[in-house]
Amino acid sequence: MDIKTAVAEKIAALAGVSSDEILGFFETPPSPDKGDIALPCFKLARSLRKAPPAIAAELAASLSGFDGIVRAEPVGGYLNFFLDRTDEAKKTVLRVLDEGMGFGSSNGGAGRNVCIDFSSINICKPFGVHHITTTVLGHSLSRIFRHLGFNPVRINHLGDWGTQFGKMLVAYKKWGDREKIESAESPTRELVALYVKFHQEAENDPSLDDEARAAFRSIELHDPENWELYQWFKELTLREAERVYKLLGVEFDSYNGEAFYEDKMPAVIKELQDKGVTTVDNGATIVDLSAYDMPPCLILKSNGGTIYPTRDITAAIYRKKTYDFYKNLYVVAYQQNLHFRQVFKTLELMGYDWAKDCVHVNFGMISMQDMTFSTRKGNAIYLEDVLMKAIEKTRAIMQEKSPDLENADEVARQIGVGAVVWGPLYSSRIKDFTFSWDKALNFEGETAPYAQYTHARCCSVLRKAGGYDIEKADWSCLDNESTANLIKAIKTLPDSIESAAEKYEPYLISRNVIEICSCFNKFYFENRIMDEDEGVKTARLALTDDARTAIKLGLYLVGIEAPERM
Ligand code: ARG
Repeated sequence: MDIKTAVAEKIAALAGVSSDEILGFFETPPSPDKGDIALPCFKLARSLRKAPPAIAAELAASLSGFDGIVRAEPVGGYLNFFLDRTDEAKKTVLRVLDEGMGFGSSNGGAGRNVCIDFSSINICKPFGVHHITTTVLGHSLSRIFRHLGFNPVRINHLGDWGTQFGKMLVAYKKWGDREKIESAESPTRELVALYVKFHQEAENDPSLDDEARAAFRSIELHDPENWELYQWFKELTLREAERVYKLLGVEFDSYNGEAFYEDKMPAVIKELQDKGVTTVDNGATIVDLSAYDMPPCLILKSNGGTIYPTRDITAAIYRKKTYDFYKNLYVVAYQQNLHFRQVFKTLELMGYDWAKDCVHVNFGMISMQDMTFSTRKGNAIYLEDVLMKAIEKTRAIMQEKSPDLENADEVARQIGVGAVVWGPLYSSRIKDFTFSWDKALNFEGETAPYAQYTHARCCSVLRKAGGYDIEKADWSCLDNESTANLIKAIKTLPDSIESAAEKYEPYLISRNVIEICSCFNKFYFENRIMDEDEGVKTARLALTDDARTAIKLGLYLVGIEAPERM
């Protein structure tokens, strides 16, 4: 049992409150010199019927000398505990060594499914930088949930249905060149160009729109030739997207997108009607949500066509049936707040109590500062270009810093990609974010390269030491301030992981990683790791080993690799 739990149980017995509750009361003092654990005694005022300062004083008296506590100090309404640092240090260091990459993992999820709809790119459209947040956030959440014993179901809900595919078809048949598209470095760009041309031409020739409508209708009817072309567009877009996913290490369990629900919608529409959830308004079928201060949710257009919300309602029901999810997450920008509120409310009105388990994990916008790409008018910035540029820039920096590095290309990829991925995962997701090269590739700032660099430094220390025998450790050397701070930063990682899952906020982990890194660097400069004393050296090496693991794990959970040398 860890000391926190032991103290909580002791206080629970004294105060007549459950120890779980006490554990929830504990806070961390603002700085280590004020103690290791703080108990805000006003939380006990009601059950003990006393003023908080009096409670603090009494508890202090009965806890002094308690095993593992050096001192209990009442400060106003707070009681601050100073733990036996040597003992604490030893326990933490051994725990991380023992658990390794499983540090902070749990079976709490009990294998329950968590659907994560993320990335969800659109066919025949650019996979642009604006898709980075959903992609890396969803990827990170899937790793975090897996760490906590859940089974993430990673879903790429492709935007692969709608009248735009009729336009694509017409444009391709009129102006497209199969060879050229097939062999292009970026087939998506070719398709987008055709699509743009369609719009230009249609301005002067409205009959093109009629043709496009007819063409989409033929896709709906699975006309063999047009269906084949439509599948080919999908395949081209996905083939290219796969390159980006590979760079990022992102994988999916399902690519069931909007088209997948085409044949599943009639039943759901009937269900909506049978349950009396929908009304007809000007020929359109809608869900009136005025009672909930929302505009109506459109189910069928007046021409009978289905639409985005219809597909999402159908998809949610399908996911519940197929995965019996514990949570059903949608990692989508906040521009779609209303859409998801409407969809979730409609599901609730259909009588599905699991609507409460659907969560829109929304996030802010990304903009690019000092972007040096040729962004011809209206052209999106492709995520692949940004990643490749980051890798190239990293390669140049490394050429200078460590010209002799083996597998420099691989390391440049890990660092370059990490630099780009980091930004959207280092702040609360709802905040808008501006990407800048200087910030992203700064090896000294609060960045992925800095964390990777610190990890490589730990690896290098351990490599040079050539191993240690843990039995020889003298734990008493781990009590100075910089050491205690490092241990504390490592020790909080499991809590950060739990909170990240609870709030769908991976940045809680990346912040913790940076804290560990800056504490490690301070520890490294203030303490001689390769001390003459074998016991001291061993304890410090073991702690370095912990830092290495904790950084690597934290980075892994936000989807970033940690090279051993750089
Ligand atoms: N394809 C959409 C877009 O790029 C995002 C889809 C999000 N997922 C969903 N189930 N609606 O905006």
